[in-house]
Amino acid sequence: MKITLSVIKADIGSIGGHICPSQRLIETVKSYVAEHGADLLIDSYVSHTGDDIAILMTHTHGTGHEGIHQLAWKAFVAGTKVAKGQGLYGAGQDLLKDAFSGNVRGMGPAVAEMEFEERPNEPFLFFAADKTDPGAYNLPLYLTFADPMNTPGLILAPSMAKGFKFAIMDVNYTEGDRMIELNAPEELYEIATLLRDPERYVIESIWSRSTGEQAVVVSTSRLHNIAGKYTGKDDPVMLVRVQKNFPATGEVLAPYALGPYVAGCMRGSHQMPLMPVSLNSGISYFDGPTVVSCAAFCVHEGKLTEAVDSFAHPFWNTVRDKVANKAIEIRRQGFFGAAMLPMTELEYTGIMEKLAVLDKRFEIRSESEAKQKEVGVALV
Ligand code: F6R
Ligand code: MG
Ligand code: MG
Repeated sequence: MKITLSVIKADIGSIGGHICPSQRLIETVKSYVAEHGADLLIDSYVSHTGDDIAILMTHTHGTGHEGIHQLAWKAFVAGTKVAKGQGLYGAGQDLLKDAFSGNVRGMGPAVAEMEFEERPNEPFLFFAADKTDPGAYNLPLYLTFADPMNTPGLILAPSMAKGFKFAIMDVNYTEGDRMIELNAPEELYEIATLLRDPERYVIESIWSRSTGEQAVVVSTSRLHNIAGKYTGKDDPVMLVRVQKNFPATGEVLAPYALGPYVAGCMRGSHQMPLMPVSLNSGISYFDGPTVVSCAAFCVHEGKLTEAVDSFAHPFWNTVRDKVANKAIEIRRQGFFGAAMLPMTELEYTGIMEKLAVLDKRFEIRSESEAKQKEVGVALV
């Protein structure tokens, strides 16, 4: 049976700043989807990570289906009403357009969708990250799908011997989807060359070269490209099919033990380590740290099992401690150097405005003044 997994997520308001949505808000979205999705969906799962609510849906209508997108959009509109009624902060923040126009792409919410022929056993992982952008998944995905140091399956499992194809998007290009496809292992250096710049080049999907099947889809929207200004970080979602022809769950989860530095956190403008957290976790230190959750499922004829919280295992407590220490350490250097993002990635305009004023105060020294200085220096 061919099924589609669609995950659509948005920040439509939260308690105490950008911490987490209210229970009433989550319940509103959940009951809207249950009530209005009965004829469209096979199953659904509503959760939150930080201040973002994600609706995971299973159905048979393929990707980009208007009815599915409209259902999610309307659920977020219904939620926004409740958020406004409760005085939640940033109510309706990610709903950037007034009217729905066929597809939520380019309207604010993030989307990741995949259609595939369901295997008799179909395990998959649903990741959601908050206070960061879609490039945050670049390194974990590279390690999982291209590096036998992380993924023994690449050398042990004959079904993975041909490697994987990476579809990578240049997210700075706003006229359309600017894409490149690169094959691992032959083009490892080319893949690494792009992935080292996660603000510009983002993995959109990964495909098995043995079977042609899709393994991964990542939401690649960049909110500031849509709105033309800061509206919140992009907070990406991702679906990963696992086992058999794909990496095992443990090979997909392992790279998150690194706690790599990624863009985001406070005012969307810093570098902070990515902390793997439990499902439905909020945000705290320095409006972060940047977090990622992972719900593991099996799906059969579109029906989902209960979600298993992949980062709840005691193993990840040590990782969280390490990530907290990395976060505190980089915060010690405040605005300086690598702690804050480069100019082009700052999500607020204050620095640009100050620079514009300061720019007018710079003066070019005349040649004679410069000579005098040189002589002065020489005499000293
Ligand atoms: C980061 C984020 C927060 C806000 C910060 C200030 O993605 O959402 O760090 O940028 O709390 O929020 P405003 O500007 O809404 O007061
Ligand atoms: Mg927010
Ligand atoms: Mg968020």
